[in-house]
Amino acid sequence: MVKVITYGTFDLFHEGHYRLLQRAKALGDYLIVGVTSEKYDIERGKLNVVDPLLTRMENVKKTGFADEIIVEETLGQKINDIKKYSVDIFTVGSDWTGTFDFINDFCKVVYLERTKNISSTMLREQNKRILKAGIIGTGRIANRFIPEAKLVSGISAQGVYNPHKESAEAFARKWEIDAYDDLKSFCRDVDVVYVASPHQFHYEYVKFALEHGKHVLCEKPMVLRREQAEELFAYARQHQLILVEGIKTAYCPGFEKLLGIACSGTIGTIRYIDACFTKLENAGSRELTDEKYGGSFTELASYCLLPIIKLFGYQYDDIRFDIIHDKNGVDLFTKASFCYSKGIATATCGLGVKSEGRLLIAGTKGYIVVEAPWWKTTYFEVHYEDVSRVDKYSERFLGNGLRYEIKDFINMINGDDKSRFKLTGEESLAIAEIMEKFMHDEKRLHV
Ligand code: CTP
Repeated sequence: MVKVITYGTFDLFHEGHYRLLQRAKALGDYLIVGVTSEKYDIERGKLNVVDPLLTRMENVKKTGFADEIIVEETLGQKINDIKKYSVDIFTVGSDWTGTFDFINDFCKVVYLERTKNISSTMLREQNKRILKAGIIGTGRIANRFIPEAKLVSGISAQGVYNPHKESAEAFARKWEIDAYDDLKSFCRDVDVVYVASPHQFHYEYVKFALEHGKHVLCEKPMVLRREQAEELFAYARQHQLILVEGIKTAYCPGFEKLLGIACSGTIGTIRYIDACFTKLENAGSRELTDEKYGGSFTELASYCLLPIIKLFGYQYDDIRFDIIHDKNGVDLFTKASFCYSKGIATATCGLGVKSEGRLLIAGTKGYIVVEAPWWKTTYFEVHYEDVSRVDKYSERFLGNGLRYEIKDFINMINGDDKSRFKLTGEESLAIAEIMEKFMHDEKRLHV
């Protein structure tokens, strides 16, 4: 019996897939089809898959060509499958010609001619309206958005707004999009807005965009007052608009895995969370010269507050800020200490003091440790009383990670709510409230 194996995502099952499977089956007597798992697709950066795994497997089954359907879950699985199932022929479409030549050492490799003019990518574009994205701001983060958005299907950068015309035009030239210095025309031409302006302008921009019927993804910290966050989320809800605070860590696969393990009971009951993020800035930078909105806490605390709010919730009994100021009164280093009935937590941020930048989650049975840059979670360890036992976990974090939040934002707009739990409106409100307390303690709200 000649055994044949082939692999694919088989998303939005189409004629190209059918013909591939038909010819793959004809190569032998028994056909095994490996369908990629959702997790594996995300891991290898394929973020645009529409159909869930079960639907994709069901569609392969319906063709009647597959004698066995398996799930492809990891890189390197193919060789193991070939050995495990004693496969004689490995086959894929000609778009992969050359890529799998190394498999010739284990079995015969056949590249079947790809069916022309059809692909899942084409169908996705046809099925889904491409949302035109407008970017407010032209700084460092705005520049990161466009290459990341290109990797997510269903969105295309259309224009950029900056009240300073020259900045908007320079940015627009660089990325080949339209420039706007008038917010109304900008909003007229786009479907969704990404706000990446300095944080003191977030509230006005988000409000304007929502009032013009746009879905909004806003960089962190979205706002520095709870009341403003409440107003914006209430407006979005009433008008069926999606509003997301862009704390990228919340949307990255490694952090999701970490939270899952932290909550699983593996380390017992969580009693202590210590999250630290420091990044040295030049003395003349905006972050260190803006006496009202600059400083380490407004700049970095969103990241450190995230694991605390996710794991301990927002009903803390007490919060205290210990701060090292520079001569202008800007916080160079801030430690926010929380007391909860169930435990304690610290969020430490520095722009003028360098620290280890680690995330530690300690429980009654063990602790989880993630070294910097834990906010781009790729690797973490779980330690126990028995020092010889260390569980190690890793996940991929691709590019600068914005693609994950952009993908979830687009999915939510398209009615898929499965990612909403990653950072809820309530959690964003809690973060705004902590920012407000800090600003109040620092007497900055009256400046
Ligand atoms: N395939 C094919 N002809 C097509 C499309 C796909 O022969 N027109 C083959 C691929 O070469 C692969 C298998 O079908 O062997 C599964 O491909 P998959 O990547 O799932 O489909 P695509 O349509 O190529 O998906 P995408 O557009 O997301 O890359």
